[in-house]
Amino acid sequence: MIETKDLTYTFPLSSENVLSGVNLKVEEGDLVALMGANGSGKTTLTRCLNGLVQPTGGSVTVDGHPLTQENIRAIRRRVGMIFQDPNTAITSPTVEREIAFGLQNLSVPRRVIREKTNMVMEQFHLTKLRHVSPMDLSGGEKQRLAIAAVMVLEPTYLILDEATSFLPSSSRKEVMALVDQLRLELKVGVLLVTQFPEEALRASSLLILHKGQIVQRGKPDEVFSKAEALEAYGVPVPLEYRLGIAGAN
Ligand SMILES: Nc1ncnc2c1ncn2[C@@H]1O[C@H](COP(=O)(O)OP(=O)(O)OP(=O)(O)O)[C@@H](O)[C@H]1O
Ligand SMILES: [Mg+2]
Repeated sequence: MIETKDLTYTFPLSSENVLSGVNLKVEEGDLVALMGANGSGKTTLTRCLNGLVQPTGGSVTVDGHPLTQENIRAIRRRVGMIFQDPNTAITSPTVEREIAFGLQNLSVPRRVIREKTNMVMEQFHLTKLRHVSPMDLSGGEKQRLAIAAVMVLEPTYLILDEATSFLPSSSRKEVMALVDQLRLELKVGVLLVTQFPEEALRASSLLILHKGQIVQRGKPDEVFSKAEALEAYGVPVPLEYRLGIAGAN
């Protein structure tokens, strides 16, 4: 489980908290959605969960291990991150080398790297594209590659920070189907930061972040029922909840 207790973050030289007293849990096989207006602190929160940002207060633990300088590498392996712009994650000249990259960094034997890379390319339907430059892929394919390159390290958790926001709707659905598959088949625990209410509806719980605080939490159906409150926080609400006809048919 990823767990935060009273997580607080203040940027250096700033007097305002970007995160204050955030408590959340993501269990294995779970899908937790996080929504909030621009600047509410979503990205900062995700960056605290794998040590990219050091909290100024409270705690983060991953499977009971506190995030410290000593275990940060182990925790980063356990908590995979997928970012909004797939271009920023790409570092290799081919799809195959992009997937192998993380394993090479861990000094895994070459034979194992080859085996695991082949397996993951099959699993994510990237084998045919193995010699293609990642830069030549479509946006949806790039995110599929980014997820494959993280999954080859066998993380227990996956954090997606608005990973579908640059994609056309058909690719968005594809990425979401992939995330569902990882969760159901491999029991990966997922934290999904999203601006799309239809994605949040698939989660087992939905958290709303407003000015660095969790102001609503619960089953997506319950949270979206408070449509007016959510809209005041700048969070989009599905049409059927805005009209008050959710579950009517
Ligand atoms: N380096 C920095 N120094 C000071 N404040 C910062 C810094 N980086 C971000 N902030 C502020 O922290 C707050 C939270 O930013 P963050 O990027 O976490 O929000 P977000 O919810 O992810 O927004 P978005 O929807 O735009 O992705 C914002 O008010 C932002 O202006
Ligand atoms: Mg953000």
